[in-house]
Formats: sequence, C-alpha cells, structure tokens
Amino acid sequence: MRYRRLGRSGLRVSEVGFGAWQFSGDAWGEVRAEEAERTVEKALELGVNFFDTAQVYGRGRSEELLGEILRKLGATDEVVIATKIPGERLAYHDVKRATELSLRRLRKDAIDLYQIHWPSIWNHVPISETMKAMEELVEAGLVRYIGLSNFPPCLAEQAQQSLKKHEIVSNQLRYNVLEREVEKEYLPYLRERGMSLIAWSPLAKGALTGKYTPENLPSFQDVRANDPLFHPENFREAWRIVQLLKEIGEKYGKTPGQVALNWLLRDPLVIPIPGAKNPRQVEENVGASGWTLSEEDWRRITEASSTIRINRVLW
Ligand SMILES: NC(=O)c1ccc[n+]([C@@H]2O[C@H](COP(=O)([O-])OP(=O)(O)OC[C@H]3O[C@@H](n4cnc5c(N)ncnc54)[C@H](OP(=O)(O)O)[C@@H]3O)[C@@H](O)[C@H]2O)c1
Repeated sequence: MRYRRLGRSGLRVSEVGFGAWQFSGDAWGEVRAEEAERTVEKALELGVNFFDTAQVYGRGRSEELLGEILRKLGATDEVVIATKIPGERLAYHDVKRATELSLRRLRKDAIDLYQIHWPSIWNHVPISETMKAMEELVEAGLVRYIGLSNFPPCLAEQAQQSLKKHEIVSNQLRYNVLEREVEKEYLPYLRERGMSLIAWSPLAKGALTGKYTPENLPSFQDVRANDPLFHPENFREAWRIVQLLKEIGEKYGKTPGQVALNWLLRDPLVIPIPGAKNPRQVEENVGASGWTLSEEDWRRITEASSTIRINRVLW
C-alpha cells in the first residue's frame, strides 16, 4: 500500500481508503456485523488506514459499527477516521451536539477528519456560523482537521475565508471514470488550495467492476435503484468503458475495477474510498495500489471516457 498526505495536514493516509456507507444497514442492504468485522480486518491487514463514514449512514449505524469493530481490533488510534455532519445540522448548537454523538459512536476522543457532508441548502445557516463551531471544536481538541464534501469551489472558498486559524484539508466529491464533472472547476480549485479530493463512488457504485453487464443488470433494491448510471440507456454507455478497462487490465493482470481506481490515483491529489461489503472486495480494491498504468493506457481511458454521456433526464 502506498500512502498520501491528506491536503496540507499532518495525516498520511492509504491511497486507497475504505468507504463504510456499506455498513449503514439500509442504503446497501444488510452487511452483517461479523462480515463487516472481517472486511475491516482484511483492510487493516493490507495497509488501509483511512476509513470514511457519516452521521447519516443508517442514522449512526455505520459510525457505531465501524467504531465498535476498530475498538475490538485494537486499531482505533492507529487509523484515520473521517466522518461527516449533514447539511441539516450546521447551526452552531447542532454542530456541537452532533459532534458529541459522533464521538460517542466512534469511541474516539477526537474526530480525525470532520467533513461537512453538503452545504446548508434547506436551512440557510450562514457558513460563517458553522465554521465558527468547527474551529472551536478543533481548538477544544475534539476535531483534528476540517474537511468538506460536495462543496462547489465558491462555497468552499467562503468556508475557508470564515476560518481564522485553520486550513480546510479536503473536499469529498463524486469522481470516477464515468463521472468526471469535477475535473472542470473543482479540481483546479483544490490544486490551487492544496486540498485533497477524496473520491466517492470511485467504482461508480460497482458499475466499473465488470460484474454487472447490460444483459444481467439486476433491478436493484438498494441505493442504485434510482441511480441514472444503472438505467439501461446509460449502462450501455458505461459498458463500453468497462470493456476497455477489462482489455487494458489483462495486460497488467488487473481487474476492471482495479484499473478504474488506478486511473484515479494518477492524480496525487485524489484519494479514492471504495466501499466494500466483504474481504474479497476489499482485497481486490487494495490491488489498485502499488502499480501504475502506462501514460498511453491512462490516456486511452481518459479519451474514451470523455465521450461518455450519462443522461439524467429519464422521465
Ligand atoms: N460524500 C458523499 O456525499 C458520499 C456519497 C456517496 C458515497 N460516499 C462515500 O464513498 C464510499 C464509496 O462510494 P459508494 O459506496 O457510493 O460507491 P463505490 O465505492 O463506487 O461502489 C461500492 C459498491 O461496489 C461494489 N464493489 C466494491 N468493491 C467491489 C469489488 N472489488 N468487486 C465487485 N464489486 C465491488 C459493492 O456493491 P455490490 O457488491 O452490491 O455490487 C459496493 O457496495 C461510501 O462508502 C461512502 O463512504 C460519500
């Protein structure tokens, strides 16, 4: 496993992280506690030290389960845990209370990376109010670093300007071979600011692994049921890229998913956090680290995927 510095922070995290939304018990179907434990154990064994969760994942269940497993495995203080506070909890008093609850569920004295999951869209809380609370949490030693998620550059900059002493270290955004919108405005801003891009859905929710084909596309009962990517019309487009990933992967002895993650890793700013439901998946995902696609192969994927169009108007 290779490691990367998270933004300009003092944290070094595995370049392939671990997404724990899969432990929510709702969005992704049930992952039993024993299976979750074996999965985290395998991740640790393979050098993963960066775990992402959120308060909204199963209304605290993902935080709770991850916290419990890491404590049981004696790894709580050796890993970097990133959690998120949702956009509905950004008033000053809510931030303080939500943080206490997260710390309790995670069984930690401090949250390593505390991300604002999305901006305060419905409640209209000024970002300066939220950032005041966040900064106080850092000063009190309850949070080590502040991060964002799903923040467009203008809002991210406003958030940064609201902080007196601290630097925002990351923005967590959707980024994968099929969904590359962040490249136009977000990535240049992050580069200028020295913030990491933590890539969510780096496997396009499993679409890039090659196990779903246009012929066997299930009617998902989970979070994918309403994801445009899995609409047959879009999935046919995606399949074109999966085939290319497969072809290129064969040269390296790698799977399409590993090639898709490695394609992201070419940018030193990017840290993918694939979600895994079992030890086999985590092992495969970790196999995206430790090797490099040739310039030519990386370019072939980049060019082919730049013509992909995901249609989001489906009804
Ligand atoms: N900040 C945000 O707003 C936000 C949004 C979404 C996600 N996230 C974070 O990002 C993490 C990852 O994103 P994601 O869960 O949306 O999608 P993802 O990582 O692109 O895909 C995860 C899914 O792909 C399948 N998969 C994973 N590894 C595999 C492998 N090696 N072989 C075959 N299938 C594999 C599994 O589902 P099946 O086995 O059922 O196919 C798994 O649930 C989440 O856990 C969460 O921490 C953040």
